[in-house]
Amino acid sequence: NAMLSWQRTAFHFQPEKNWMNDPNGPLFHMGWYHLFYQYNPDSAIWGNITWGHAVSRDLIHWLYLPFAMVADKWFDINGVWTGSATILPDGKIVILYTGDTDDLVQVQNLAYPANLSDPLLLDWIKYPGNPVMVPPPGIGKKDFRDPTTAWLAPGGKKWLVTLGSKVNKTGIALVYETTDFKRYELLDGLLHAVPQTGMWECVDFYPVSTVEGNGLDTSDNGPGTKHVLKASLDDNKRDYYALGTYDPYKNTWTPDNPELDVGIGLCLDYGKFYASKTFYDQKQQRRILWGWIGETDSEATDLMKGWASVQTIPRNVVFDKKTGTNILQWPVEEVEKLRLNNATELDNVKLEPGSIVPLDIGSATQLDIIASFEVDSETLEATVEADAGYNCTTSGGSAGRGKLGPFGLLVFADESLSELTPVYFYISKGIDGSAETHFCSDESRSSEAPDVGKLVYGSTVPVLEGEKLSARLLVDHSIVESFGQGGRTVITSRVYPTKAINAAARLFFFNNATRVSIIASAKIWHMKSADIRPFSHL
Ligand code: FRU
Repeated sequence: NAMLSWQRTAFHFQPEKNWMNDPNGPLFHMGWYHLFYQYNPDSAIWGNITWGHAVSRDLIHWLYLPFAMVADKWFDINGVWTGSATILPDGKIVILYTGDTDDLVQVQNLAYPANLSDPLLLDWIKYPGNPVMVPPPGIGKKDFRDPTTAWLAPGGKKWLVTLGSKVNKTGIALVYETTDFKRYELLDGLLHAVPQTGMWECVDFYPVSTVEGNGLDTSDNGPGTKHVLKASLDDNKRDYYALGTYDPYKNTWTPDNPELDVGIGLCLDYGKFYASKTFYDQKQQRRILWGWIGETDSEATDLMKGWASVQTIPRNVVFDKKTGTNILQWPVEEVEKLRLNNATELDNVKLEPGSIVPLDIGSATQLDIIASFEVDSETLEATVEADAGYNCTTSGGSAGRGKLGPFGLLVFADESLSELTPVYFYISKGIDGSAETHFCSDESRSSEAPDVGKLVYGSTVPVLEGEKLSARLLVDHSIVESFGQGGRTVITSRVYPTKAINAAARLFFFNNATRVSIIASAKIWHMKSADIRPFSHL
């Protein structure tokens, strides 16, 4: 449908048509990044799940390849579901994935490349002895899925892998041990469990360095590391993570702060984002995260437009050494290659209370924005007494006016402001009386279309002494990925404007606070489109 074709993104990964969900098995091999993904070859809604496959030299430009795996065996005939790749020390690659069997049982299967010397890894062999793991006693046959990348146990001979499940309402991560990836033993005890969090999908488990800036191989576990445990909560469709300590002898993981445990504390992304997965990029020694951005329009509309879902721009993940309490996510540096030369620079624009300032950059559909906002500290001291207890999702969004917020950017706005998506900060008084900063994305006025999601997303963001408020926004036709304070808090919004599209989309600064002026600065690049197309030499 040509009318909705403007919604397609220009530099985010999406298939040519049909349905996509989770990113699967990302890896780097012989000069190529590989991305697999849950894909329905027949329709724009979920079903017939196969593994779509694409490759890239730089994580930005992509070539679609033939499907890597389709549902053609009894152990995956109802779907080739989510899984992960492990690169062994000798260079071999193994994939573990969930199969939905002929009996609708979730089992784990092994697959490997037919030809390791093929840089494109076109052909995949499913191990004839599949399945390699079946639901153990006490685990429901539909509650056993999404194996992680494996890591080496101390001694370097045994491999460990975790996957999500639940017992009653407790979300859990089971751990299996293997030496050959064919035979597995379920270990006693659990990697971790959190009551009331429900089924854990797409568990991710990896080390981060507390001393170096690089990423770590999944098997790394020396001094100066912490482990991130992530679960995608089936009950509320959000990706929760926590930092903690992994004991490789007991195979248990303990959160640094039990109050911020998996499923009750931090989210990787507070917006439309789910089923994320990381991998270690051995080429550039970094850990890269992919997440699935789903739709919030109707299935009927998705069928009409013929496609659904997009992947995030891959994000570099590191431990935040300054706060010590969170990770940082930041778009991979390769995305900067898409920036067009002449950036617009705005320095120290004063935003009076109640002001909206148009930014004269023309069409605002493909942008990379780095912005900062300064609040006069005396004003901050004087007014922080008021406005207690703000909450992005429940305090009425950006239309409400507080003493110290909201202020920020209006993206996907038309000239008359009949449609707009504010991405903003709001400073309020926290429970302990000190200032607390919120970072939010407000979709409530994003579209005049009636049947699309219009939530206000966001959370608090740590701001340390002496830091300006800062945000990075990647704007791409119908998606804005917003990174607050260097990626401490991240929000992805999927929006469906009807007027603020193509050449009519505009960008503004705004300050809706009543008591404080803001000094805003920004550097704004128009972005080229990425080259994403079928591999033509096949
Ligand atoms: C998460 C998920 C996984 C499953 C896959 C099926 O979105 O439900 O748990 O493996 O999608 O497509």
